[in-house]
Amino acid sequence: MGSSLFTSEGAAWRWQRRAIAPVFSARRVTALAPLMTRTAERAVTRIAAAPDRVATVREMLSATFDVICEVALSGREHFDAEAYGEAITRYFLTVGRASLLDFLEVPPWVPRPGEVLGRGAVRTMHRMVNRAIAARRAQGPGAADDLLDHMLAAEDPETGRRMGPNDLLNNMQFFIVAGHETTALALSWALMLLAHDPEAQARARAEAHAALGGRAAATAADLAAAPYIEQVLDEAMRLYPPVGLLARNVLVPDRLYDRDIRKGDTVFLNIYALHRHRLWWESPDAFDPDRFAPSAKAARERYLHLPFGAGPRICVGANFAMLQAQIILTTLLARFRFEPAGPLPEPVMHMTLRPEPEVWLKAVPEHAGGH
Ligand code: HEM
Repeated sequence: MGSSLFTSEGAAWRWQRRAIAPVFSARRVTALAPLMTRTAERAVTRIAAAPDRVATVREMLSATFDVICEVALSGREHFDAEAYGEAITRYFLTVGRASLLDFLEVPPWVPRPGEVLGRGAVRTMHRMVNRAIAARRAQGPGAADDLLDHMLAAEDPETGRRMGPNDLLNNMQFFIVAGHETTALALSWALMLLAHDPEAQARARAEAHAALGGRAAATAADLAAAPYIEQVLDEAMRLYPPVGLLARNVLVPDRLYDRDIRKGDTVFLNIYALHRHRLWWESPDAFDPDRFAPSAKAARERYLHLPFGAGPRICVGANFAMLQAQIILTTLLARFRFEPAGPLPEPVMHMTLRPEPEVWLKAVPEHAGGH
């Protein structure tokens, strides 16, 4: 990912965060909701065309990719979405996988297994993003009022520094990948859990029908009437946090329980384990969205559920991700009943926590208005 908001530290991080944060303000994110609704409708159409065996992750990736392309680059005319999506998958399956060599502190210039394949995937993605940036530069500033426009205009208030070609490329690349893959995984895991829990699914569907009142797809205004569906997503991300592991470089020596933490160490925060910790969660491996009912949530320690991280590096796209996931899930539940149509997938940690093999589901059409 090179040097981007996600990988920078200190002053280099701070100015990029300040430049990018306005794009994700509540007002601007809400303004994107109609786009998310249209994406949800397209997902319904695709699923309805072949409902017996839905490749859920693939469908959800396609849905969320639509939206991030619009937010990042105002459209996908410079993208071959299929080719880009295929390159992302290749990347996650190769370089994304931590190698034993990483833990043995072998220098980074020693090629890791799979890295050669992964490099080809990165080259494909970079070429496509660079083409989109060049097209925008040719149009001039203010052409689209999207993420790329903001990045082109961003300036460090202290040094006057602007983003150079590499900053732009790396940030756009990161946003396109991180801005859709994680959300698609959260949705896929949620649908899988609901398919295996008909009671919870019926409750969520009743809520979706009531919220939509016979309309075909959910809008931002409908979501206040669907709190259980938000709970389902919170619980799905507890059991299967798309980002299962956080890492921090140690700047100053410290002590953590009986451990000395040395400067220069890397500390990993195992979010997946935290979310299933037996001392903190009752029946930690069971799916129970009521854990996130308002009263239960208020009674719980804030730092036990960290799907979006916490502190200054908290996910800048959390509101965006939740709005999109709620709109898509509410729409899908109003339109289909989901049943398992394949083996139960295993969570496999690449850079994100992916279900392997696919989440195969059968989608049984529902009638608008419910039963
Ligand atoms: C369900 C979906 C998502 C999950 C679970 C998720 C999770 C996370 C987590 C855990 C972090 C913190 C990493 C750390 O502390 O080291 C993070 C950071 C970040 N996320 Fe997300 N994310 C999601 C969606 C998005 C979306 C939609 C976008 C943008 C469109 C986005 C952009 C970012 C960026 C730019 C950072 C780095 C922030 C910084 O370092 O200042 N994420 N995300």
